[in-house]
Amino acid sequence: MSGQYKQIVLNERPARGPITDNTFKLQTGEIKQPGEGEVLVKVEYVSIDPTMRGWLNDVRSYLPPVQIGAVMRATSLGRVVKSNDENFKEGDLVFDTFGWQEYWTGPGKAIQKRVTPEGGRDIDHMGLYGLTGMTAWVGLFEIGQLKDGDHVVISGAAGAVGQIATQIAAAHPKCTVTAIAGSQEKLDYLKKIGAHNVLNYKDSDFKKKFRELKHIDVYFDNVGGEILDLALAQLNPYARIIACGAISAYNAEKPTPIYNYFNLVSMKSTMKGFIVLDHADKFKEASEYLAKLVKEGKLKADYHVTYGLDTCVGTLRDMFEGKNFGKTVVGLKEGGEKSRL
Ligand SMILES: NC(=O)c1ccc[n+]([C@@H]2O[C@H](COP(=O)([O-])OP(=O)(O)OC[C@H]3O[C@@H](n4cnc5c(N)ncnc54)[C@H](OP(=O)(O)O)[C@@H]3O)[C@@H](O)[C@H]2O)c1
Repeated sequence: MSGQYKQIVLNERPARGPITDNTFKLQTGEIKQPGEGEVLVKVEYVSIDPTMRGWLNDVRSYLPPVQIGAVMRATSLGRVVKSNDENFKEGDLVFDTFGWQEYWTGPGKAIQKRVTPEGGRDIDHMGLYGLTGMTAWVGLFEIGQLKDGDHVVISGAAGAVGQIATQIAAAHPKCTVTAIAGSQEKLDYLKKIGAHNVLNYKDSDFKKKFRELKHIDVYFDNVGGEILDLALAQLNPYARIIACGAISAYNAEKPTPIYNYFNLVSMKSTMKGFIVLDHADKFKEASEYLAKLVKEGKLKADYHVTYGLDTCVGTLRDMFEGKNFGKTVVGLKEGGEKSRL
């Protein structure tokens, strides 16, 4: 295997606000042959995630910023096409942070082998049984301490993490789920997958409707900002806020003020942040739990798939405009999975 391949590198750091046409640069690289202990991987799916916006800022975070000129970091799924590592053979399915590029060469010991069960889908390693599903499970059970009968409110509910969290909570005994998203189409979808109440945060009467909700036991926060502030005002005693993400802030010029934080004290409640990567010891348990729900017909995963490396930047932009349903990936393989399964 030799020849050229495409990769997307960070060209310049965006100022506060959305990425621009100059943020990334598409370039070609020469396929590097694997050395001793190395493998060559042909990438089949690359991930598109809100957190990528944060990786472009030169600030302290849970991972170092992507460097100018470096291939854009992204978790990815691919197949080994050449191996000089005895633990891998041609055709093995592998997962790791291969980045926004068509081929990756590196040490076999740095990557994970994946097996798709019979009747399963490779793409689920990117979503349902990947970091998305793990985030929803860890968020609800490890951080949110989900209990029978809880009223669970989930923002960003039609997205990757949100759709899995919505279905887990809806399947939990006696729980009620209020799911929040940004379009009528998404609300219809959320009702179909089990949400008891749905709210569009773009509606003019959203705040009024939110205040009419019964009080909240668990708030799964994917968006931060004004919706977080509303949720803080609606807590039941001993409520748990799962600080999963704050997409409303990632492109914002300045942060949204939070006025209602004192309710954490008066309602004896907690708000806890987490990074899913720290909970790898729970992934097996989480995967088994999710697989059981799938088997029982209580959980399905939806994917938003675009094709070709050239679509990565546009697809990342679209995510911030809410154009995705479920987990967003870019497919690099002919005949891969389609959107809206
Ligand atoms: N803590 C962790 O370890 C961890 C791991 C994975 C993800 N996350 C976080 O979890 C959140 C969801 O990630 P995801 O991968 O599942 O993304 P996603 O929900 O699939 O996509 C983002 C969605 O956010 C919504 N959105 C965009 N701008 C918004 C705004 N200003 N206000 C409210 N909603 C907005 C859009 O849907 P609408 O059409 O509804 O607006 C969009 O579809 C993100 O904050 C991410 O950073 C955290």
